[in-house]
Amino acid sequence: MRNVIFILVLLLFISVLSTEIYSQKWGSLAETPPMGWNSWNNFGCNVDEKLIKETADAIVSSGMKDAGYEYVVIDDCWHGERDDKGFIRPNPEHFPSGMKALGDYIHAKGLKFGIYSDVGARTCAGRPGSRGHEYQDAITYASWGVDYLKYDWCNSEGLNPVGAYTTMRDALRKAGRPIVFSICEWGTNKPWEWAKEIGHLWRTTGDITACWDCVEDHGTWYSNGIMPILDKQKGLRVHAGPGHWNDPDMMEVGNGMSGSEDRAHFSMWAMLAAPLIAGNDVRNMSPATREILTNKEVIAVNQDKLGIQGLPAITYGNGLEVWVKPLKDGSWAFCFLNRSGSSIDVSFDWKEHFIKDDFSHYQFDAKQKEYSVRDLWAKKELGTTAPPLSATVGSHDVLVVRLDPQ
Ligand code: GLA
Repeated sequence: MRNVIFILVLLLFISVLSTEIYSQKWGSLAETPPMGWNSWNNFGCNVDEKLIKETADAIVSSGMKDAGYEYVVIDDCWHGERDDKGFIRPNPEHFPSGMKALGDYIHAKGLKFGIYSDVGARTCAGRPGSRGHEYQDAITYASWGVDYLKYDWCNSEGLNPVGAYTTMRDALRKAGRPIVFSICEWGTNKPWEWAKEIGHLWRTTGDITACWDCVEDHGTWYSNGIMPILDKQKGLRVHAGPGHWNDPDMMEVGNGMSGSEDRAHFSMWAMLAAPLIAGNDVRNMSPATREILTNKEVIAVNQDKLGIQGLPAITYGNGLEVWVKPLKDGSWAFCFLNRSGSSIDVSFDWKEHFIKDDFSHYQFDAKQKEYSVRDLWAKKELGTTAPPLSATVGSHDVLVVRLDPQ
């Protein structure tokens, strides 16, 4: 009798423990903002295995992999139909070798494999979504070697977002392969308030588009340029940190804006500790685009281990904003962003600008401490914080400097 009771208690303990384990997101992933590439911004539904393989090749040969880009993510439209048991299959014409083979190819390059699905019965582009197939899909992705899932919110038809995303989180956990879970709910239900325990990153806005300051009306939805997206990040920084990031959407660098706009966009995503997911054709990018995407010193600001999202410290009436980001070892990144249509002469006395970050409690006080100043785009030392900074920042451009305590 005693033995029976012991076994029953043991079974109960094991079942409680496994429920606990499967009710958590995968830990120790995305400790710094994820970096990679996604097909959507430039290719939309035109995805096939040739494109993905060539892209993986180019991520390596362009130096992007060395700079930290890791995830190769196929967005919407890779899907074929479900088989008679309900398992999802890729489009057989576009992915004739199958997803496992594609995952193997990506892994052999030292990269990681990402894929896309949706909480609804259909994705945004009308392909089969995961609704009612969450556990089946998670098992399938794990068997293909998937490392990253972007999970969209189209056709959610009144679903509870916390429940819908939790179901897929638990399914991914149960499938047994660590997979970064990217919540793409467009900020509709304030995911920053509930998604920390569910996903590793969450979209804060609707879709991005490659323009500086426009908002495009698509009838039932809007897409936003870089500045409107930046403005929508207000107040969200307190929700981000290692393993849980605000995602202001994939980048539009190399997709048609000017060189300075691309540079400013990239710099701001670095300051925001945003996921750095390139969205251009990396097989055919210009040297200028490649230089922006692979600027290791700006990437280091983004990937700083503290994982503190930057903040706007000073806003001037002429379109100049000063953003700051505390970095490890007492360093700071300062980004002078010129949003205006003309260049601005900046004279900035470091000693007159005491900054206290109420969220992280880091303080910048150039009266107490002297810092070296390095221009991260010119890749040039600018001296120290003893004299005021004197510079001209072009229209729709930035000056990004790193300050290290002396
Ligand atoms: C939504 C997402 C985009 C992209 C498309 C695919 O609009 O927000 O990032 O994934 O769906 O259809």
